[in-house]
Amino acid sequence: MNFEYILVTPQYAEKVALIQLNRPKELNALNLQLMLEIKEALISLDNDESVAVIVITGNERAFAAGADIKQMSGKNAVDMLKIDQFSTWDQIRKTKKPIIAAVSGFALGGGCELCMICDIIIASETAQFGQPEINIGVMPGAGGTQRLTRAVGKARAMEMVLTGKFISAAEALSFGLINSVVPIELYLTEAVKMAIKIAEKSPIAVQLAKESVLKAFETPLQEGLYFERKNFYMLFATEDQKEGMQAFVEKRPANFKGR
Ligand code: CAA
Repeated sequence: MNFEYILVTPQYAEKVALIQLNRPKELNALNLQLMLEIKEALISLDNDESVAVIVITGNERAFAAGADIKQMSGKNAVDMLKIDQFSTWDQIRKTKKPIIAAVSGFALGGGCELCMICDIIIASETAQFGQPEINIGVMPGAGGTQRLTRAVGKARAMEMVLTGKFISAAEALSFGLINSVVPIELYLTEAVKMAIKIAEKSPIAVQLAKESVLKAFETPLQEGLYFERKNFYMLFATEDQKEGMQAFVEKRPANFKGR
């Protein structure tokens, strides 16, 4: 897969694909083309049976410093409605396979929102998260007011969104925004390690479990519980369920086939 602003390695590790944002001079600012490329790469990797988990990363200095301000600065409301730049983000949410964000440096504005639309976030000690759109006269537009609030609660989200302040990786961890903080030389390694662990599970169970967890953010409790229950029952139609339970009984590792 050849793209201008991202590098894609479908087999970075066994069954683990890597998407690396690659606009280093602009701190990986998310222009329209870059987001379209992420969308295309995700569609392709989601359909690739040799891939089980996708890791998205930037570089040590920046995961992404937000939507491309220079590209947006001259636009009016009609332009923005017509371009509808955040519609490409819907594809990220639709990705069936788990996505892990490996974050170092700035994860700001759209960069923070990109992390939050991923399923798991592993950060380096140098990572900084923030929604500083308020400083440039706008507000988060790719889920920041919603996903951040659900992740860290109203008080912290309100402060971050209204003051634009950045939080450290340690704070983000204590707020429940991210999964873990590791030394800078390890953030990608640790993200890939977790991806490999998930890739060893039954891919159908992983897909339905991911979708069920996401439902918790998107539906009332009762609806989410029904959704979960149906997915649980449905897994009993898979060979992987038979294999997983049989392997437990026989005290051996399961050999999942994705069927
Ligand atoms: N858009 C476009 N270019 C950006 C950018 C962005 N979001 N962030 C950084 N850059 C560019 C800078 O303009 C600069 O380019 P030049 O060398 O051509 O001037 C280059 O990246 C390096 O940046 P700095 O020189 O500013 O680096 P720094 O270390 O001094 O500061 C920073 C780093 C604090 C992250 C600062 O760049 C910054 O504040 N960036 C903007 C952060 C921001 O406001 N993000 C929100 C964007 S709006 C949004 O994301 C909407 C949404 O909800 C999706």
